Amino acid sequence: METKSPNPNTIVWFQNRFIRLAEANVNILTHALHYGTGVFEGVRGYYDDGSRDLLLFRAPDHFERWKRNCGILRISIPHSPSELCEITAELCRRNAFKSNIYVRPLAYKASARIGVAPDDNDAHAIVVLPFGHYFEKVKGLRAGVVSWRRIDDTMIPGRGKLTGAYVNSVLAGDEARRNGHDEAIFLTQDGHVAEGAACNLFMVRSGKLVTPPITDNILEGLTRASIMELAEKELKLQVVERSIDRSELYVCDELFFAGTAVEVAPITSVDHRPVGDGQIGRVTEQVRALFVEATRGHVPAYREWLWPVYQGTPVANIA
Ligand SMILES: Cc1ncc(COP(=O)(O)O)c(C=O)c1O
Repeated sequence: METKSPNPNTIVWFQNRFIRLAEANVNILTHALHYGTGVFEGVRGYYDDGSRDLLLFRAPDHFERWKRNCGILRISIPHSPSELCEITAELCRRNAFKSNIYVRPLAYKASARIGVAPDDNDAHAIVVLPFGHYFEKVKGLRAGVVSWRRIDDTMIPGRGKLTGAYVNSVLAGDEARRNGHDEAIFLTQDGHVAEGAACNLFMVRSGKLVTPPITDNILEGLTRASIMELAEKELKLQVVERSIDRSELYVCDELFFAGTAVEVAPITSVDHRPVGDGQIGRVTEQVRALFVEATRGHVPAYREWLWPVYQGTPVANIA
């Protein structure tokens, strides 16, 4: 996990202007700060040494999801997904980033006053930062089921990437680490496996790749969708979306997390029990290797997933 504070001179996009991070500040009474009324995204960009380009992974899909999720809180974003991609590419160019990066779009209720009822005063920002691996330990993670349950759609929609909802993830991750694990696994209210604190979960059983369905209160991950497509089309694996029981985690062959930040992260123990033989599984390795190749533009069929920062043609006029 990145622990360093970002450079305050980093150029960010805030309220339709390119300004320094140090100047992109909010009022202490901001609605979102008190009531969690923000919607964020997370996008990765990979620097490919071969083409010397920075490739934003599925950026239009992330911005499309951002706009739709903003609709849950009735926040509007007055830009199209391709304009938002171009703003992000411009941020990378202005900061001269030539390394792997992480993009954090954030929209929120901005009125500075007391009172839960929201109004139409919305604010938007996009920040891009250099970013390495989320987990230092990329060899194999220790995961643990936590006592906190994943938020239910009838309480706070987990698919929304709503800032306030992440208290659920913060509590889960903290409990998992205090119990000697690297990452949490959430169960749903009815006891089925949902996902990690900020990532989706895949299990390998009898040669099939199994993952919880989007109606089990998971975030509808784009990494999850990409892996399902790569596994089916390229690795010829059968992919099954179905509810998973907790004890299946103890008897399965392989487990891994998947998400923009965590990428493909193998799990080698769960609740202090080895997963399979306790080593990274063969399918997990295959999926991880293919995902790395696809995100660097090395698999022609999936180049359309990548938005090139330096060799792309700008599609929007950026002031
Ligand atoms: C709770 C949660 N689940 C899953 C994911 C993975 O989603 P994606 O692959 O779209 O990043 C995230 C990503 O931030 C998340 O916050």
